[in-house]
Amino acid sequence: MGFLACRTFNEEGQVAHRLVDDLEIEDLTAGDTVIRVHYSSVNYKDALGATGRGKILKQFPLNSGIDLAGEIVSSENSEFKPGQMVLVNGCGIGEQFDGGLSQYARVQSDWVIPMPEGLDAKSAMALGTAGFTAALALHRMQENNQTPDKGPIVVTGASGGVGSIAVDILSNNGFEVVAVSGRENYREFLTRLGANEVMTVEQLMLGSRPLEKARFGGVIDNVGGEVLSKLIAHVNLWGNVASIGMALSHELEATVFPFILRGVSLLGVSSTNCPMPLRRQIWQRMGNEFKPQHLDEIITEVVPLKDVSRVFDDLLDRRLSGRIVIDCQ
Ligand SMILES: NC(=O)c1ccc[n+]([C@@H]2O[C@H](COP(=O)([O-])OP(=O)(O)OC[C@H]3O[C@@H](n4cnc5c(N)ncnc54)[C@H](OP(=O)(O)O)[C@@H]3O)[C@@H](O)[C@H]2O)c1
Repeated sequence: MGFLACRTFNEEGQVAHRLVDDLEIEDLTAGDTVIRVHYSSVNYKDALGATGRGKILKQFPLNSGIDLAGEIVSSENSEFKPGQMVLVNGCGIGEQFDGGLSQYARVQSDWVIPMPEGLDAKSAMALGTAGFTAALALHRMQENNQTPDKGPIVVTGASGGVGSIAVDILSNNGFEVVAVSGRENYREFLTRLGANEVMTVEQLMLGSRPLEKARFGGVIDNVGGEVLSKLIAHVNLWGNVASIGMALSHELEATVFPFILRGVSLLGVSSTNCPMPLRRQIWQRMGNEFKPQHLDEIITEVVPLKDVSRVFDDLLDRRLSGRIVIDCQ
């Protein structure tokens, strides 16, 4: 009997997804491990890929979904036993290989992470790639000596998946947080998550000189473009700017002054190809000191897999906030 999946097709140049219910394990891209998926999630990238609004998928047809959590059905790797709870995020699933928006997945065992202590399948997917990326950004900043005494951390795109989790874990780890959101109605939500201030970009009153008054200890940026360019010029001595997303623009215009006169660092954050030892370390931290205190509030909705289609456009058109968890069983 077949199983259900959200599968994306390219038919005569038109990329679109549809729900199919007749897939077999043998139809999936190759792997030595089969997982019964309990939960997945919808990230910005999933929505771009499944709707064809971004060129995300590298082959067709392909099950969408860059995240999954569930139980091992079988594995050729003796580290994994049937029934064991695990997760996979990034590593090319939902892009080059069949992904997590499916009742079953077949993956390479070296992408599989045993469920970290402190998390279960649902909370792991409430975090998903968005949470992983927020945590990876803060981890990289801390490794480069970001400390609360350098000043507040600005989080842009704060009401989104990455942004809301970043606000929570920064606050929970002793940082003052300035949440920047284009949506004023999320002020209360972001304050509850731990933001000390919630502002629009306009209210931040950013200058446009190469070097501006140092007002912030660092930045976790989800939007790119002019906002990122201007923020870099306001970062304090030896602060870090983690570049995660490009919801506004992929462009970045900057001068070298903040780097050579203030020792500011621009850190790249790439969740897809994060090396496995670091990936495991970040997931361990996410079950511990990086576990958001308000994960239940950050989950906006739990949607059954059969209804996933309605989420994609809402996410891209900014009608959603926080995290959408997908119940795959
Ligand atoms: N580097 C990586 O490995 C990695 C991993 C995950 C995600 N990402 C990227 O990070 C970004 C955030 O991902 P996400 O999953 O958090 O997405 P999301 O939930 O859709 O959140 C994106 C947020 O960005 C803001 N935004 C959206 N469109 C915008 C626009 N045109 N101009 C300015 N702000 C806009 C909105 O926040 P407000 O309404 O609050 O302003 C929105 O909630 C995306 O660009 C995504 O592709 C990168």
